[in-house]
Amino acid sequence: MKILLIISSSVGCYKALDLIRIIQKKEIDFEIIATKNTFQFISKLLIEGISKKKIYSELFDLDMEQNIGHIELARSNTHIVVYPATANIVSKFAYGICDDLASTCMIASNKPIYFAPAMNKEMWANPLIQKNIKSCEENGHFFIGPDTGSLACGEYGSGRLVEPTEILDQLK
Ligand SMILES: Cc1cc2nc3c(=O)[nH]c(=O)nc-3n(C[C@H](O)[C@H](O)[C@H](O)COP(=O)(O)O)c2cc1C
Repeated sequence: MKILLIISSSVGCYKALDLIRIIQKKEIDFEIIATKNTFQFISKLLIEGISKKKIYSELFDLDMEQNIGHIELARSNTHIVVYPATANIVSKFAYGICDDLASTCMIASNKPIYFAPAMNKEMWANPLIQKNIKSCEENGHFFIGPDTGSLACGEYGSGRLVEPTEILDQLK
C-alpha cells in the first residue's frame, strides 16, 4: 500500500498533520502534495517537519520534471486521498481541470480517489457542488464524509471534515 496524500486549503487542513502521523504509525508508505493555497494555513516547513518528506506543490518543478515527476507521482501509489478536499479541488477534478500539480496528478492517475470534503454548509449544499460530487462518484471515486457538526465559520451543519482516524478504514 502506498498513499498519495493531497492536502488542499480548507481551514481544516491542520488535521492532515494528524493523518500523516496515523499513516506513519501504521508504517504505510506515502507521498504528499499540498496545493499552494494550503500554505496560507500551514507552512510547508511544518508539513515537512512532521512527515519527514519532501512536499510537492509546484507543477513546473525543474528537478522533478526531468523524470516527468507529475506522472510518476500520479502512478506510484495504490490510493489517492484528498484530505481535506475543498469545493474547488472537487469541482476542478469533476471538470478535468489540470491547472496545478495536485489537479494534474489527480487527472493523470488511474486509481480511485478518496475525497474527504470540508466546507461551509452552504458550499456543501450548493447544487453545483453536489452535481460535481455526483459526477466524481459516477466515475468511480469515493467521498468520506463530511460530518455534521459545528463548523469553523461558527455555523452548524453538514460540511465538517471527518476525523483523520476514520480515513484509513475506508480505503478499499
Ligand atoms: C479562512 C478561509 C477558510 C477556508 N475554508 C475553506 C473550506 O473549509 N472549504 C473550502 O472548500 N474552501 C475553503 N476556503 C476557500 C479555499 O481556500 C479557496 O477556494 C481556494 O481557492 C482553494 O484552493 P485549493 O483547492 O487549490 O487549495 C477557505 C478560505 C479561507 C480564506
